[in-house]
Amino acid sequence: MRQVDSKHRRRLLLALGALPLARGAAAASSIDDKRTGGPYVPTPQVVVDQMLRIGRIGARDVVVDLGCGDGVIVLTAVEQLKAQGFGVDIDPDLVALANGEAKKRGIADRAKFYVQDVFKADIGKATVVTLYLLPGMMLDLRSKILGELKPGTRVVSHDYHFDDWTPDDQYTWDVPEKELITGVPRATVYLWIVPARIAGKWQVRMEAPGTEKFDLVLKQRYQDIDGVIIGGASKERKLTQSRLEGDDISFAFTSGNDRHHFKGRVSGEAMEGTVQLAGGKGAAKWSATRIKA
Ligand SMILES: C[S@@+](CC[C@H](N)C(=O)[O-])C[C@H]1O[C@@H](n2cnc3c(N)ncnc32)[C@H](O)[C@@H]1O
Repeated sequence: MRQVDSKHRRRLLLALGALPLARGAAAASSIDDKRTGGPYVPTPQVVVDQMLRIGRIGARDVVVDLGCGDGVIVLTAVEQLKAQGFGVDIDPDLVALANGEAKKRGIADRAKFYVQDVFKADIGKATVVTLYLLPGMMLDLRSKILGELKPGTRVVSHDYHFDDWTPDDQYTWDVPEKELITGVPRATVYLWIVPARIAGKWQVRMEAPGTEKFDLVLKQRYQDIDGVIIGGASKERKLTQSRLEGDDISFAFTSGNDRHHFKGRVSGEAMEGTVQLAGGKGAAKWSATRIKA
């Protein structure tokens, strides 16, 4: 990855007089600084590279950086990994710098930067959202992230997390160059995968002769799911091996002395997939529709 960038960015930081602010940000991280994601503190290039790695960013991705600063995350994703994307920031000077850099690197058609508040950004087309914002802002943004992003969208954050929304992956390591800008020579990168909304009651059909008809009642806390089957041979059976990743769902329940194993995909008010039938009776298709409350 480009070594010249860190020198350029250090000069930029000094030119912007941001170093005192950056130091302040480390202290501010313990304050819940609502509605502002904090001052400009750049993510070092080594951390950007880890963010792009944990987010598994590739040429098909649309990367959106909320509070983009000088644009380093989107610029790197576009230039190095052939993604496309945009960033938004409330600071017009930083946005101008980011757009200027995109032009200089010949990628201005795929990397764009706008002066905009993060809460107003249209993030619906993102496949990856990146963040380096203070904890209060992370919490404020959580409902926008869960409400506006498609299931399966990856959310990657530098150092700060979403409180009780457990990350799907995280990585902490020593980054000596951070000591100068934040006072802490370490970084953590987090990954979350936006889960489909599956909580509620579903009517399930298995397309195999003689199979049971039943309802599925699902509970959800972010990507953690649990539930029961109602109907069929017995009144209520607990699901086992329930898992949700983006819009991929899987679960099992006992039938006789064995289990049916379901795998499928959620699409709004419907699900469909394949079930491995209990008792070695082969596979069948299944589908489900949400029962309106
Ligand atoms: C810690 S810097 C991160 C910069 C860049 N994402 C990076 O990682 O190098 C946070 C940025 O968020 C911007 N910011 C803070 N509050 C914002 C808001 N409400 N809307 C848009 N940008 C905001 C700041 O101007 C600053 O550039």
